[in-house]
Amino acid sequence: MGDSLLSRLAPSITNMIRVDHTHVQTAIRQYEVASSMRVKKGIADNICLALEIHSQLEEEIFYPALRLVSDTETLRKAGPEHNEMRELIARLRAMQASDAAFDDTFYALARVVMHHVADEETILLPCAERLLSDRLGEMGAEMTKRRFELTAPRTGELAGSVARSMSVGTVIAAAGALAAGGWLLTRGRTADRPWSHRIWSR
Ligand SMILES: [Fe+2]
Ligand SMILES: [Fe+2]
Repeated sequence: MGDSLLSRLAPSITNMIRVDHTHVQTAIRQYEVASSMRVKKGIADNICLALEIHSQLEEEIFYPALRLVSDTETLRKAGPEHNEMRELIARLRAMQASDAAFDDTFYALARVVMHHVADEETILLPCAERLLSDRLGEMGAEMTKRRFELTAPRTGELAGSVARSMSVGTVIAAAGALAAGGWLLTRGRTADRPWSHRIWSR
């Protein structure tokens, strides 16, 4: 359906992945050791939920398509890195923010995320844009549809963590993006990419 209306209107899956990354990175930067336990737990919960959904979307839609056209070390490492994140997420979820190991576990997760995101943005996304260019819009539409399916049962969890993380008046971008379909909120980000600029400027 490469030429269908849907695939021409949908933002590319690679830009949607970049926007998800930006929101998670923003939320990571909002975490401060000195913040209240409630805020730290709220931010951590937001990040964990956003990462779980993002990873599942990549594993179901993005990685399988890329594997059909490419076989790189970075792509082979991506699944195991998601599993490493899941292990840290499980440990973080089981802890209270008052736990002595909470900050260190949070930052261990942040390190894995930043390294993984850097590999995806410098190797996997450009690779997809070279090899899957005619399918990126269609895959973006598929990712949006699946995102709503995965997010719908978790809206209560999402609202609770957002409320806690915002008690200092910060807006947690990861959670907001997750709820609203983040790419809608950041039209300017890809203004240097003529295709998406044209779509998003309508
Ligand atoms: Fe990933
Ligand atoms: Fe990613």
